[in-house]
Amino acid sequence: MASSAGLLQESWNKIRNDVDTALQQYVEVAPGCPEELRRAMAYSLLAGGKRLRPILVLLACDACGGDVDAAIPAACAIEMVHTYSLIHDDLPAMDDDDLRRGQPTNHVVHGEAAAILAGDALLTLAFEIMARDVQPPAVAAACCADLAAAAGRAGMVGGQMADLQAESTTAPTLTQLENIHRRKTGCLLTGALTLGGRIAQADDDAVNALTNYGRCLGMAFQITDDLLDVSGDAATLGKNPGKDAAQGKLTYPALLGIEESRNRARDMIDEACRWADHFGERGRQLEAMARFVLERDH
Ligand code: IPE
Ligand code: IPE
Ligand code: MG
Ligand code: MG
Ligand code: MG
Repeated sequence: MASSAGLLQESWNKIRNDVDTALQQYVEVAPGCPEELRRAMAYSLLAGGKRLRPILVLLACDACGGDVDAAIPAACAIEMVHTYSLIHDDLPAMDDDDLRRGQPTNHVVHGEAAAILAGDALLTLAFEIMARDVQPPAVAAACCADLAAAAGRAGMVGGQMADLQAESTTAPTLTQLENIHRRKTGCLLTGALTLGGRIAQADDDAVNALTNYGRCLGMAFQITDDLLDVSGDAATLGKNPGKDAAQGKLTYPALLGIEESRNRARDMIDEACRWADHFGERGRQLEAMARFVLERDH
């Protein structure tokens, strides 16, 4: 049987290429943007990364019978929001990391001020693209609202705040941990899927299946991120492992141990695959993606 990574390989590479080309154009064409700011934005945005969120936008759109080319602007927008979140996550005031996507972090190369502003500019550019390039305008407006909610105070940003606060928690609970992971990571992954569904103008049942698939995938994704921080190596990860324990982060391995964390990730992925079944043959790529998230080494 072909591995899930093998099954995904073909569409993965095509989507990556299409998205990378579009991202390059979006970040290059910028009259009025100071060159130093453009360089700082491009530095992190074009440094690679798995492009998981753009891939999810397109796979969800495809699973719902939509036109995947029409989903490219939304795919680029969410990758910009994700990249901004990484730049800010790495800042000295947050996780204070010096390696990301296999290269020195944005603030190490461009300085803290430019890194903060590059994040700000990627975030705002994402909404400019979504509002202007997603069609029809009513779908664009709904996509903007969804992305803002997924990225904002009750989503990614809220989760990042709770993640920092949990560093000084003395009696952490599983509910607290789940709430952090669901917001800081899960919301943007679920958002990628529902954006794809919106662009395909999917019905409520399909959106419900995508949302539940995303809930499970998002949790499993952050559990594996926590596990890779324990067991991964910098060359493969493209970021420094061992940081969570050093900073006293509330993570799955810290709270439940390695084995139980692996079990929970596996259960979540099994459930994600059951939700992907809703789409029949068209959901096979979502299933393969879920398996990849469990098996990934970076
Ligand atoms: C890293 O996300 C941050 C988390 C939400 C855990 P990814 O592992 O998707 O990072 P890239 O995009 O591949 O660099
Ligand atoms: C960050 O989680 C999630 C974001 C919103 C960026 P982590 O802090 O664990 O992500 P990494 O391990 O630095 O990529
Ligand atoms: Mg963090
Ligand atoms: Mg971090
Ligand atoms: Mg991590």
